Amino acid sequence: MTPRRVVVVGGGIIGLTVGWRLAAAGAEVTVCDPAPGRGSSWAAAGMLAPIGEASAAEAPLTRLGLESVRRWPTFADELSADADCTPDDLGFRREGTLQVAFDDDDRRALDELAAVHRLLGLESEVCSARRCRQIEPLLAPSIRGGLLVVGDWQVDPRRVVGALVRALSRRGGRLVTSAVRRLRTTGEPGAHSVEGIELEDGTELEAATVVLASGARAALLDGLPKEAVPPIRPVKGEILRLAAAPFGLRPSLTVRASVRGQFVYVVPRADGEVVVGATMQEAGFDTGVRAGAVLDLLRAAIDLLPALSELSVAECLAASRPGTPDNAPVLGPTPVDGLLLATGHHRNGVLLAPVTGDALVGALFGSGLPREAASFTLGRFT
Ligand code: GLY
Repeated sequence: MTPRRVVVVGGGIIGLTVGWRLAAAGAEVTVCDPAPGRGSSWAAAGMLAPIGEASAAEAPLTRLGLESVRRWPTFADELSADADCTPDDLGFRREGTLQVAFDDDDRRALDELAAVHRLLGLESEVCSARRCRQIEPLLAPSIRGGLLVVGDWQVDPRRVVGALVRALSRRGGRLVTSAVRRLRTTGEPGAHSVEGIELEDGTELEAATVVLASGARAALLDGLPKEAVPPIRPVKGEILRLAAAPFGLRPSLTVRASVRGQFVYVVPRADGEVVVGATMQEAGFDTGVRAGAVLDLLRAAIDLLPALSELSVAECLAASRPGTPDNAPVLGPTPVDGLLLATGHHRNGVLLAPVTGDALVGALFGSGLPREAASFTLGRFT
């Protein structure tokens, strides 16, 4: 039987995961991206944090995140097997996350999060300030307490991207480093079918299936019939990387906090790098890093963990998260025959990679989108 030919538009963590999983399931896959993994995946901190990010108003998204984090250990094993590395090489770490309150107002915000955890039945442990400082001795003495979330983990997205590129190739998938100029379809308005795509240089690739996984740019592809345009907008995030200290100083686990109302997270990598993020701004596709954003993030991070002031700033960058009206991804079929979506992952692209890959395999090779993904189709917006 001729394998199903699939083009994936976008080679970030989501597009590469979908490409790798579909290739492993037997499809003939081409992933197209002018700079694979260099968009929001490159900026991402890599927190796998459905509990820290939980919100009562977004309970379906929290459940999807919990399902995906549950799949991460197997995903990391399978990815590292196909990429000739180990889960440690992906920066996969399960120390948990400490969610901290800096002052009394921040403490009230943390109490609200603890209440959401109780409401949704999520596991977190209320910690005194003293217990927080036992867990993370670098925390400032003035903090007011925290929540230990043992089920929120991390990976290093840049290492995951590298592994996905190798795993895609191992499974026979092809990576084309070109932008896609246009989606090619046939048929009448309202009854379109996919024919393939056209690359930037005019090369046409035939495909019975096209998966749109180009993150914040997914709605901008030329030729996309209007009934299939996902409601995606860019949500800017600025993030910093501090270089490993020569004497090994760094927090021992991810710390998230509200510091006088400023949200900040500090993610220590095994190699000593420390990631400090991130802002949220509606700023179109602007990816300039504002001086004020750097100041706010560093002030909050250093107030929280004063020793960070000794580290060198290695990198400041910004990227566009793919936001949707309900902050949840858009997965699976569209009204255009052969066109599938895997975008809109907003703050959770790295977390939701396993469940997204499985959803697309289910949609193409199973009996449709699996149950956990079924309520995240484009249809929910119409
Ligand atoms: N996942 C964290 C962020 O988007 O900043």
